[in-house]
Amino acid sequence: MLTKEENELLTRVGPGTAMGDLLRRYWHPVAMARELTTEQPTKFVRILGEDLVLFRDKSGHVGLIADHCAHRSASLYYGRVEERGIACAYHGWLYDTEGRCLETPAEPADSKFHLTVRITAYPVRRFVGMYWAYMGPLPAPEIPRYDVWARQDGIRKLAMYPRLDASWLQAMENSVDPAHLQVLHQEFTGRGRTPPGTTRGFTDDVAGFKFYEVPYGIIKKRTYANGKMDEHPLIFPNILRQGNATQIRVPMDDTHTNIFFVYFLPVANGANGHVALEDEDPEVIDVAPFKDPPNALHPFTRFTLDAVLAQDHMAWETQGPIVDRSHERLATSDRGIAMYRDILRREIDKIQEGGDPLAVVRDPQHAIIETFLTESLAEGWFDPARRDGGQPRPREALARA
Ligand code: FES
Ligand SMILES: [Fe+2]
Repeated sequence: MLTKEENELLTRVGPGTAMGDLLRRYWHPVAMARELTTEQPTKFVRILGEDLVLFRDKSGHVGLIADHCAHRSASLYYGRVEERGIACAYHGWLYDTEGRCLETPAEPADSKFHLTVRITAYPVRRFVGMYWAYMGPLPAPEIPRYDVWARQDGIRKLAMYPRLDASWLQAMENSVDPAHLQVLHQEFTGRGRTPPGTTRGFTDDVAGFKFYEVPYGIIKKRTYANGKMDEHPLIFPNILRQGNATQIRVPMDDTHTNIFFVYFLPVANGANGHVALEDEDPEVIDVAPFKDPPNALHPFTRFTLDAVLAQDHMAWETQGPIVDRSHERLATSDRGIAMYRDILRREIDKIQEGGDPLAVVRDPQHAIIETFLTESLAEGWFDPARRDGGQPRPREALARA
């Protein structure tokens, strides 16, 4: 159970909040690289409570700047891209990727007024087919080379999952909640078997689970009654590494979350041709909505429940836009959640004391970070392109969410 104040601390992500400051110490994907085209060179981005516009100018530079023009606030999403930046559609104020104003067309020719104008701008990098943003204090750290993102002996695929209309923390707490798998997902975990009862589902398949901390997050280790074992991490602070994928949960604001999947698919006898991670252009899978109508909230929508992630979205959204944790009744099976919250608070304290938080990587030459991907691949893996009726078909590995 948390007090109202503790719940606010862990869930508020806007500028100036403690958790918002912590999340700003990491790179986050904001768009698939394919989304920016010559015909559509801008994308509206809401991230960590800030409204921004991602754009690619005619010189190929990509920027992420404030949505509202400094002049009189029209949206730069509708701006015209030029060689040197993006010009506001309203009166033509021109901005570069650093947020500097280069021109104010209606001012006198010798005016230096534009030199006084600057808008918010964040560094952007292209990596594994997505644009990533860093919104924290400079210098920016590196994007960590986790195995799923950096291994070269296969290919990657990307998927944009339906927007989660709930707090990012509800998705993340689920990642250290192994007990739900055998109950919520019992139609998928049974692999054709019938559970002894729908209340217990396949709970009796599991002998026990443990959690332990590593330099990039929390490992969740599940031991099955038949002797099998499964370990995979919550990558701090907002990623689940499971099966052959990472699920990156990027808060749009306190009550909406974008979910980017990166899949690694081993290739039998080869590699990806060693395309640089900055140049990769993986296939992007669009996943159909998990609820109908797709933009409504519980109870004015109905979830499909026909895929593991659809069931998860049902659980996370019906908890409420921000679950009231002053009413919860944590039990022994929730000890991973308690541990994760403790680490979040500890890392908030760490940055307030001037340190780098858990999983921040500074060395540009760092080695690939192993997250048990090899072990997960041995269990079978999921190809998101193999779909049926517009939904991914979970294979065994995916069902172990
Ligand atoms: S509002 Fe953007 S130039 Fe006037
Ligand atoms: Fe789940």
